[in-house]
Amino acid sequence: MKRTKILVWFMSVSFIIIVWKLYGIESGPENFNEEIFHENVNNHFSLNEKHSIKHVTIYCITPTYWRYVQKAELIRVLQTLTLASYKTNIQWIVIEDSEQKTELVKNLLKRIDMQDHFKYVHLNAKTPPFQKLKGKDPRWKKHRGVEQRNAALKWIRDNVNPHGTKKIAFFMDDDNTYDVKLFEEIAKVRNVGVWPVGLVGGLNLETPVLDPKTGKVAGYKSGWKPDRAFAIDMAGFGINIDLILTKPEAVFSYRMERGFQESQFLSYFTTKEQLEPLADNCTKVYVWHTRTEKPDVKGTVPGFEV
Ligand SMILES: *[C@@H]1O[C@H](CO)[C@@H](O)[C@H](O)[C@H]1NC(C)=O
Repeated sequence: MKRTKILVWFMSVSFIIIVWKLYGIESGPENFNEEIFHENVNNHFSLNEKHSIKHVTIYCITPTYWRYVQKAELIRVLQTLTLASYKTNIQWIVIEDSEQKTELVKNLLKRIDMQDHFKYVHLNAKTPPFQKLKGKDPRWKKHRGVEQRNAALKWIRDNVNPHGTKKIAFFMDDDNTYDVKLFEEIAKVRNVGVWPVGLVGGLNLETPVLDPKTGKVAGYKSGWKPDRAFAIDMAGFGINIDLILTKPEAVFSYRMERGFQESQFLSYFTTKEQLEPLADNCTKVYVWHTRTEKPDVKGTVPGFEV
């Protein structure tokens, strides 16, 4: 009698365990992995559209010129933009400082055709010889990127329709490092938005300083002339393209005093008080100047595009 009871009890428990295990194999692990996956992805950058910014297009303006690290730098920018394109629309404007578009850049951009994550435009505009940096000149001695950024502004004015969905321009040099979170901030710009830039001007960062009472930009922490109307690095602001379209005279110029490019360009569009502080009230750094060291290339292996 007792033995039968134990046997029945044992069989029931075994049956329950078997059913439970089978169910676990079928559905458990999948649900589990999926949750972990989404959680991880969302910690790095939100793929889900909490604040829908899919209707915003960020026009990223990237001047570039030949040197050994060019392809490596452009690949980094391309990959950053691929990630950013999961969150918002990207239109990359690449402007070569060259008489003709190069095969290197053409080949690189072909990758975007294949993946189809975002759109791009390939332009070229050569810097006139009198403005070219000479071998030993310090980087800041002459204006850089003037011709190329103006070519991009011209393309925007010729090709982009005003109004409609929101469009923001961002000057995205090819030698900086960008956190993909920056693009969520750029998408928030209404007219002109600003944020800190890391490792620039001889400081760990440059940033607009906010008035704690009003929350508006009151001044700047910057390594050089913080009393400029806009002591802001090229990578430290985004601007609504509707503004660019309403001020056709706003371009970069060789006549602008050295170090005043950004400041004079921004003064066409806005005032210090109107700037929109982003990146958690300018407390977060999402972009850094990280210049790649010039490689010491002593010889070349023919037949490779490096
Ligand atoms: C930024 O500052 C304003 C007040 O100046 C405050 O209302 C707001 O919550 C702050 N935002 C963040 C993200 O800290």
